[in-house]
Amino acid sequence: MQQYTDQLVESIRQRLAVGDKRAREDCATLIKAAPDVGVMLLAVVEERLGDFDAARQAAQKVEEHQLQTAMELYSSARCFQAMHALMEVGARRQKIPLAWAQSLWGVGRYEQSYAAFEAEATRSSSSAEAVARFAQSAIMLGRGELALPVIDQRVEQHSGCALQGGLIWYDQDQERSAYCFRRARALEPGIWQALIGEAACQPKEQRLDRLQALAGQLPEGDRAAAMLAGHMYAAEHQAPFIGQSPLVLKAGLDSASTDGLVLECGVYFGRTLNLMAQWGVEAAHGFDCFEGLPADWNGQEASGAYSTGGYLPVVSESVQLHRGLFEHTLQGFADEHQQSQIRLLHVDCDLYTSATEVLKAFGPMLQSGSIVVHDDYCGYPGWQGDEFRAWQEFTGDAGVAYDYLGFGLLGREAAVRVRSVQS
Ligand SMILES: C[S@@+](CC[C@H](N)C(=O)[O-])C[C@H]1O[C@@H](n2cnc3c(N)ncnc32)[C@H](O)[C@@H]1O
Repeated sequence: MQQYTDQLVESIRQRLAVGDKRAREDCATLIKAAPDVGVMLLAVVEERLGDFDAARQAAQKVEEHQLQTAMELYSSARCFQAMHALMEVGARRQKIPLAWAQSLWGVGRYEQSYAAFEAEATRSSSSAEAVARFAQSAIMLGRGELALPVIDQRVEQHSGCALQGGLIWYDQDQERSAYCFRRARALEPGIWQALIGEAACQPKEQRLDRLQALAGQLPEGDRAAAMLAGHMYAAEHQAPFIGQSPLVLKAGLDSASTDGLVLECGVYFGRTLNLMAQWGVEAAHGFDCFEGLPADWNGQEASGAYSTGGYLPVVSESVQLHRGLFEHTLQGFADEHQQSQIRLLHVDCDLYTSATEVLKAFGPMLQSGSIVVHDDYCGYPGWQGDEFRAWQEFTGDAGVAYDYLGFGLLGREAAVRVRSVQS
């Protein structure tokens, strides 16, 4: 099936290049075989063939019905190819700017995507949704404060903006953050994340009680219960929350008190690796097969998710990439660097089995003062069985004592500092 849809995408591309109207027929066939990709391409096809009304209708349809699905599909190889086709044809830029910005994000062009979101959010007639999406992209690039001027103008009217505002303000002014979370709930009572965010704005000693009291107020379902359980775990360990999730990684870096290697296991398009370079890390190593998760991830993502289609991402000069499955790359690297210790280890590989491989190879290089940042540590359905479990087992077996430095407020991240290792 994938080969068939790839052929159709290629045929559309070739036909469009010469203005051949049969691209429309290919598109209709593609919509039957792969609706998500097909509908997205239809907007481009119509525009290229000069039917702007049809293009606008198709574009609207994409905006309304397909964007969410497309976002979920981004990490699959098929969508990656489709996104590249889209980018080559390029016409979405004017017609459906938010989808265009999201497409850029989906293929790892983070800076271009950010610029596209920013352009859309700062237009005089921008929508609140565009502002909320801009804030999200700014947060994911660790610069949420740059979105505050536009976010603050929408907090009173739009729940999504209020929620993003709550996250960004959290690290600077928790009273303002709590106000944003309350506002989000007033505008949309179903936003249970805002309830949890507001509880996290309480003084540390009152947080646990406040979170416990939420149990009856949250909607039924795994996500809310899992996030509450993750927050209770974090509150029990008295570590601070951090509003913008990538800043958990930054807090780890800022707290590192030993020299040594900076390693990331799980690179994908290099977003967090490049962030570390921007934050001053002079040399870092990134490990990834670049073919996505090697197995299904407990109902969250299918095997192959987060594939770059085998492409190596563009990374800063200070970063060295090591391509391959962890079982083939990590131990050799650890053996070559036996004398080194770890300054910071970023574990962002989602699966229990992958995190276990990481800790088997690099765990023995941790020293007192080393930092480990886990990207998917707690607060989502099944969290106790993934990176969290791998870390608990490793530290228990190896006699490693550690302290929590911070947890992502509405995310899943946790940063720890190793206190001592058994000699
Ligand atoms: C969630 S992504 C990493 C995201 C990235 N740090 C970022 O900030 O955008 C997880 C990555 O782990 C990689 N991965 C997971 N298990 C792996 C394994 N056993 N060997 C190699 N790569 C693996 C996948 O290929 C994928 O790129």
